[in-house]
Amino acid sequence: GKIVVCDHPLIQHKLTYIRDENTKTKDFRQLVDEVAMLMAYEITRDLPLEHVEVKTPVAIADGKVISGRMLGLIPILRAGLGMVDGILKLHPTAKVGHVGLYRDPETLQPVEYYVKLPTDVQQRELIVIDPMLATGGSANAAIKLLKERGCASIKLMCLIAAPEGIQAVQEAHPDVDVYVAAIDDHLNDHGYIIPGLGDAGDRLFG
Ligand code: PRP
Repeated sequence: GKIVVCDHPLIQHKLTYIRDENTKTKDFRQLVDEVAMLMAYEITRDLPLEHVEVKTPVAIADGKVISGRMLGLIPILRAGLGMVDGILKLHPTAKVGHVGLYRDPETLQPVEYYVKLPTDVQQRELIVIDPMLATGGSANAAIKLLKERGCASIKLMCLIAAPEGIQAVQEAHPDVDVYVAAIDDHLNDHGYIIPGLGDAGDRLFG
């Protein structure tokens, strides 16, 4: 799939404050919400439109509205939750499915603890959401479980990705386009993205 780096100046500006260790929970949440909204603008760029006519107070105008398959947002708990509201602000009719995964600190393997998806999830264009793409294990596990349930149209949206994570997703799921705000340098021995932003879940929720 394609890799899209959403590097609009507003996103780069806000991401810089997201990285800053002096940014505390309240501002961190607000900034993640705002960047998610700006990224949603980019990730929805190719939504199909259909022609409609609209009656203005003085005439009939040609208009366009979004058509086709509806969106589904799939945040990976916990940290993915921090990006849901920002996307819903732009696309309020999206449904939300929750996938709970935590990364075993020793093996770095994702462990599934919760899955609850919209009943019509197979019919939707899905966006898997996670601020951090480190080894790619969590994203790959979430995409795999969606595919096992019959989902075919899946994109991945992350704030910060390590090159290792992008490569892992491309190898396991070549059909999935990946949208990121930044691609960082590398992973350290504990599987943290360097320079990154620390632990996104902890910075959002404590
Ligand atoms: C972090 C992060 C991603 C995952 C990325 O979650 O939020 O979900 O690790 O790592 P990976 O690409 O190597 O799988 P964590 O396990 O800390 O859970 P949390 O979101 O509940 O804090």
